[in-house]
Amino acid sequence: MALAAVILAAGKGTRMKSRRPKVLHQVAGQPMVSYVLEAVREAGAQRVIVVTGYGHEAVASVVGELGGEVVVQEPQLGTAHALLQADRALAGFRGDVVVVCGDTPLLRAETLTRLVVQRRSSGAAATVLTAFVDDPRGYGRVVRDSSGRIVRIVEQTDGLPEELAIREINAGVFCFSTKGLFSALREISCENRQGEYYLTDILAVYIQSGRLITSYLAEDPAEIYGINDRRQLAEAERLIRLSVLNDLMDAGVTVVDPASTYIDRQVRIGSDTVLHPLTLIEGASVVGAECELGPGARLVNSRLGDRVSVQYSVVADSSIGDGSKVGPFAYLRPGCEIGAGVKIGDFVEIKKSAVGPGSKVPHLSYVGDAVIGKNVNVGAGTITCNYDGEKKWTTVIEDGAFIGSNTNLVAPVTVGRGAYIGAGSTIRRDVPPGALGVARSEQKNIPNWEILKKKRKKKEMKETT
Ligand code: UD1
Ligand code: CA
Repeated sequence: MALAAVILAAGKGTRMKSRRPKVLHQVAGQPMVSYVLEAVREAGAQRVIVVTGYGHEAVASVVGELGGEVVVQEPQLGTAHALLQADRALAGFRGDVVVVCGDTPLLRAETLTRLVVQRRSSGAAATVLTAFVDDPRGYGRVVRDSSGRIVRIVEQTDGLPEELAIREINAGVFCFSTKGLFSALREISCENRQGEYYLTDILAVYIQSGRLITSYLAEDPAEIYGINDRRQLAEAERLIRLSVLNDLMDAGVTVVDPASTYIDRQVRIGSDTVLHPLTLIEGASVVGAECELGPGARLVNSRLGDRVSVQYSVVADSSIGDGSKVGPFAYLRPGCEIGAGVKIGDFVEIKKSAVGPGSKVPHLSYVGDAVIGKNVNVGAGTITCNYDGEKKWTTVIEDGAFIGSNTNLVAPVTVGRGAYIGAGSTIRRDVPPGALGVARSEQKNIPNWEILKKKRKKKEMKETT
């Protein structure tokens, strides 16, 4: 049977106290709504419709990138009104519709699948996902009759004290048969404390017309956790982060200290890699096998080969080849392509540069807009002067070149294959392959300087006394 999903994501998320739409707040490096989108897809939804409203453009662009369809709810009159906006998009669609709120990023696809199976096997018009929680505050409570049948769902703001004591809550996730769904939504009124059209009121409409409602109880109440404020956002972050680390550990990655390791969900890491404390790996980073990351490593959208080590360093939008070592205290800015077996040492900043295999930039250097070949040695304190105040220029250092310490390479400039640069040089012209480039003033030695100095001092003392 066909399955569609509608994700409700039009609300502002007032309790977040944010200008950013709630569903775009990040959890473990991904917007909240993307988790829900992935879950419904994985559960088999062929069509995913996201209802947007507050911050429509921003939400629509994220949803579009993730391949979802967007319908706009304007103004936002409640969750029932939100779902009603999908009526036109689903015209002609026959099958099941799962409805999910955009603010429940922990919801798993398996649970959705079971919910759908439950509706189909029970033949109900609607099946609602419920959970038992210790602290039901903020959720709709599931009210049942003496025979255990669902009677209605009461919102926090509308509930009587005895209803608010109920610990079975509405997860905000439903499976509906499309048959009669939208006409039932139109019957819902907004006579409640918030003056909103509540989707939960569809149950009463169905019950009145004699249609069957069933429920499916979530095994793990953590899954239905809805994010309404920043505390809940932090809690979701903690839970998702832990599950990411657990998956990595199950796949053979060592996490020395899960409490201080932060890995975004998209990140891929090979087996036998060790993550030391204070390692942060963000975005779409890919790390190979047998790497040693941290203590103190931050990788952003970067790609590491196997056996790479990074400590106390930041690597952003760059790639590093097999067996290379970075840090301590290096900063690889966007656009670096570091080859295999490279050493990037302490207090080195590299930007938008290629460093060929086997090359070394061991200490105290700035390398920007450079193309460095194989087996090059860049001495301590080497600076590429890549910016003339208006434009950036390229420095080329060919294979096997040796750059003496404290060299300035004034770009555009090329140091040829196997060439040497004398320490302390400021190189403004190309150095041919195999040549020695030296650009510094000749050393002058003044003999007996110490004796001359003493004599002068004595003379001065006599004159002042
Ligand atoms: C809702 C449920 C509550 C349930 C809880 C689960 C209703 C009336 N209440 O409450 O029973 O326990 O979720 O987390 O359904 N939205 C729209 N348009 C609107 C209003 C809301 O798209 O006009 C979207 C929001 O963006 C959000 C979702 O619907 O993603 C839920 O809205 P929210 O205000 O968070 O509802 P809750 O009070 O949490
Ligand atoms: Ca909510």
